[in-house]
Amino acid sequence: MVGTQWGDEGKGRVVDIVAKECAHVVRYQGGHNAGHTLVVDGEVFALQLIPSGILYDHVVPIIGNGVVIDPRVLLTEIDTLAAKGVNCERLMLSPQAHLVMPYHQILDELAEGRRGDNKIGTTKRGIGPAYADKASRTGIRVEDLLDPEHLRSRLRGSLAEKNVILRDVYGHEGVDPDRLADELIDEIAPRVAPYIGDTVGHLHEALHAGERVLFEGAQATFLDLDHGTYPFVTSSNPVAGYALVGSGIGPGAIDQVIGIAKAYLTRVGAGPFVTELHDEIGDHLVEVGREYGTNTGRRRRTGWFDAVMARQAVRLNACTEIALTKLDVLDQLETIKVCVAYEVDGRRYEYLPHLRRLHDKAIPVYAELPGWKTDLSEATERHDLPREAVEYVSFLERQMGVPIRFVCVGPGREQYLRFAA
Ligand code: IMP
Repeated sequence: MVGTQWGDEGKGRVVDIVAKECAHVVRYQGGHNAGHTLVVDGEVFALQLIPSGILYDHVVPIIGNGVVIDPRVLLTEIDTLAAKGVNCERLMLSPQAHLVMPYHQILDELAEGRRGDNKIGTTKRGIGPAYADKASRTGIRVEDLLDPEHLRSRLRGSLAEKNVILRDVYGHEGVDPDRLADELIDEIAPRVAPYIGDTVGHLHEALHAGERVLFEGAQATFLDLDHGTYPFVTSSNPVAGYALVGSGIGPGAIDQVIGIAKAYLTRVGAGPFVTELHDEIGDHLVEVGREYGTNTGRRRRTGWFDAVMARQAVRLNACTEIALTKLDVLDQLETIKVCVAYEVDGRRYEYLPHLRRLHDKAIPVYAELPGWKTDLSEATERHDLPREAVEYVSFLERQMGVPIRFVCVGPGREQYLRFAA
């Protein structure tokens, strides 16, 4: 399952629907820059690291090797869930996942500050610096927590260089590797250790036994480090292909890719946004859609549905179907626009232009559809939808070329309907 836009499509919600029929739910990339909100029996659960499937007793939630884990955040999440009566004992962490350290967060904040007008608008959670360390081979991995002396020496090595940067570039006091090692060894390692397991072996046994495994992408296609609107992207690969790398399975195991698309578009942070609205309709979408970050509280930018991006996302991820979320947010609109193509220098594009500088110049070509001016929040079947809503969803379906399987009409666990057969 993968986001087809810039994140915040409501993936947690759809994972929750699909996880019901799965035995394992795996996070394969990203970290606590993600924020998934679930509403169960009126109670709100906000998860950042633990796969949304945790709320089902029959699901084994797995954090794969492609994720970066801030162990403090993980433990707080486990404690919060435990306080609400959710048992986290089944949770399994890959020993090869990298850890987000306090110095990653410090560096993320300082680097953003230094970028001035060229800010990426990161979540300042240390995600970029943690993945940079992974690529530079100076990262600390979950399994290092099991070997105190090795952990201490890795931290000393990594911080020797980082402290020079912190002090000389940023005038920061630096981070004491031994104090950090003590903290990790005494407070973090004993609590994290019970969750560390052979995630690769576990997944292969599950697949061999014919069990269903759901891979839960965080962030989204256009925040992808390779395929997104670089440099305004995250530092991992949310696209479906990375589910393989980030969990240790092969391509043959994937038989279904569900793309999640919001019925309109939002983006947090900087970067191009062809269909962005700077008017009262944009404000209306923010207010009705409660478009403020679950994680950082930032107001999201809003715009019309962009079928060019959606088509590209269907290609990049090989989506076999779509789940459309937040259709109800459009309930009160008189007319609704959908961007069906881009125009750049007089040429029409049905997919994203291959050069980013062309993307920056794109002018949206819109189709305009009538609104339904009806409250959809109670709809539970396709025939409950007014004709205009069916037409809107069918129009998006034709634009993307794959069936829209689910349509969500409210935040509650039961507020969705099956659209395509
Ligand atoms: P980072 O992932 O914190 O480095 O942030 C890089 C970009 O990705 C910024 O524009 C963030 O706003 C965006 N981003 C990261 N995680 C999410 C998410 O879960 N939802 C939406 N945007 C995100």
